[in-house]
Amino acid sequence: MYYPDELIEEVRTRNDIVEVVSGYVHLQRKGANYFGLCPFHNEKSPSFSVSPGKQMYYCFGCGAGGNVFTFLMEYENQTFPEAVKTLADRAGISLPEAEYSEEARRAEGKRARLLEINKEAAKYFYFQLRAKQGEAGYRYLRGRELTDETIRKFGLGFANKTSDDLVSYLRSRGYPQDLIRDAGLCNVDEKQGMYDKFWNRVMFPIEDINHRVIGFGGRVMGDGTPKYLNSPETQIFDKSRNLYGLNFARTSRKGNIILCEGYMDVIAMHQAGFDQAVASLGTAFTPGQAGLLKRYTKEVLLSYDSDGAGVKAALRAVGILKEAGLSGKVISLEPYKDPDEFIKNLGKEAFQERIDQAENSFLFEIRMMEREYNLSDPEEKTGFHREIARKLCEFPEEVERENYIEAVAEKYHIGYESLRKLVGSTAARTGLVRPVERPKSGIQKKNTPKENDKRTQRLLLTWLVEEPQVYPAVSRFLSPEDFTEELYRKVASRLFEGLEKGEVNAAAVISMFPEEEEQREVASLFNTKLIEPETRQEKEKAFHDILVRVKRISYEYNTSRMGGDMEALNRVIAGKKALEELSKTHISIE
Ligand code: UTP
Ligand code: MN
Repeated sequence: MYYPDELIEEVRTRNDIVEVVSGYVHLQRKGANYFGLCPFHNEKSPSFSVSPGKQMYYCFGCGAGGNVFTFLMEYENQTFPEAVKTLADRAGISLPEAEYSEEARRAEGKRARLLEINKEAAKYFYFQLRAKQGEAGYRYLRGRELTDETIRKFGLGFANKTSDDLVSYLRSRGYPQDLIRDAGLCNVDEKQGMYDKFWNRVMFPIEDINHRVIGFGGRVMGDGTPKYLNSPETQIFDKSRNLYGLNFARTSRKGNIILCEGYMDVIAMHQAGFDQAVASLGTAFTPGQAGLLKRYTKEVLLSYDSDGAGVKAALRAVGILKEAGLSGKVISLEPYKDPDEFIKNLGKEAFQERIDQAENSFLFEIRMMEREYNLSDPEEKTGFHREIARKLCEFPEEVERENYIEAVAEKYHIGYESLRKLVGSTAARTGLVRPVERPKSGIQKKNTPKENDKRTQRLLLTWLVEEPQVYPAVSRFLSPEDFTEELYRKVASRLFEGLEKGEVNAAAVISMFPEEEEQREVASLFNTKLIEPETRQEKEKAFHDILVRVKRISYEYNTSRMGGDMEALNRVIAGKKALEELSKTHISIE
């Protein structure tokens, strides 16, 4: 699907970004912009901004940003053509029939091609499971009491014993080697060349919230190791931002989400009617996944294995849920190991009872802590009480803290007043403990000279977009070639082109780039924050400084790469002249 630029622009301009984003995020007007809690990272005070003027969004906390297409790509996991389609529908614009020429396909972007090859692989595995060579896999799944309907619903499949049949199949369908490799479907080694990553395993396709296959988990037949083999992370498979089963759970009407450890647990739960079950993807639960869950629910029930490792994982998950502002509860599966076994043995009614009795996550934490102490020993008992008091200090809100003090005092037979006092003195000594702020992703880059140079260039691009009247002063001294990063040059040349005609087209510039990562970076070019100078004089000085710095960066960059290159030499000479002139020139920014 490849659409002409003008059409993409029409779709973009007919979808106001504030309106579109408002459908997902609660926004409030502040000055010229709108602010809200960023949907792409966990935060308590809003650093997510949407600018109606620029028709862009940008998060000063995590660096997420882009235009209205990027937003759908990031929020709904859509590819660029899909985002164009969604917004065209929204604005009632009809798009021409999809074009499937070789060239169009190439232009579709890597993500789309990775999605396509994963889908093809999933179909292949699905077909194998139903063929003679997949019988063992089918018998295994039926042996674990999965119905045909469940097997179909989750698209389960089988990877044969032969170790290169998927690769040959994909090659025969015209998929290039690079793509097979980048999708994580094969291993490559010198002796054997390319061979299947998965073989002799039942296959669990992992789907994103839009039911698109983004990776696989494969369970070995019998007792081999590893028990589960998972696809590596790829451009479309981010294990920390997807959850197994969420494609179904997101539309569940149960009002909560149940978080399990394993693929089989999720499937067994759905089969028993608990369609709100999800699991992480062979790795520990992450803050990114908590953020994802927060879009769909306020309450998360943990249904982790009842062994030591499961309890440890549950305690970690409790902390992450709390930080994300989600209420957490813990389901007890005793005496069974996991939800799959529990349901098999006691049935779904019994499981529903366990859901209804799920334990408050704070009380669960305290109960697990208790196991570490020998309470018949007075010294250890005191230690336990101190630890409780320390944990109670984690509640910043008094009413909530009081309620927990009361609950814990009663449960552990501690005098209410003495526990209160202990909490008071602990707080006086250590302060009320605030949950640790997680490092915010991406944006805080190191202050290396190179990073500073890039930042200066970004400042100038942002300035141009926010106050386009400075363009004549800029273009007198600078051209797009002065930017030292390829991406910056591309962006600048498109931006300058527009400004020549008196148009600011920042949001349109973003659509030039089909990949989300690039769109995000381009958005950061237009959203680099300048400390607002107070007076006009200061502002002119700041502007002048930035201009000189960008010119100098360009000059130094070209000097260092000059070699025998005539063009670079010319640029250096011109740059030096411009720099001299620039430092003598007063620039008015009105
Ligand atoms: P479990 O071993 O508890 O899985 O691991 P399970 O679903 O109960 O397995 P069955 O019932 O024996 O088939 C829980 C999850 O941990 C990940 C997988 O995501 C699995 O679903 N895991 C486990 C791996 O990634 N690799 C492994 O080797 C084992
Ligand atoms: Mn299991």
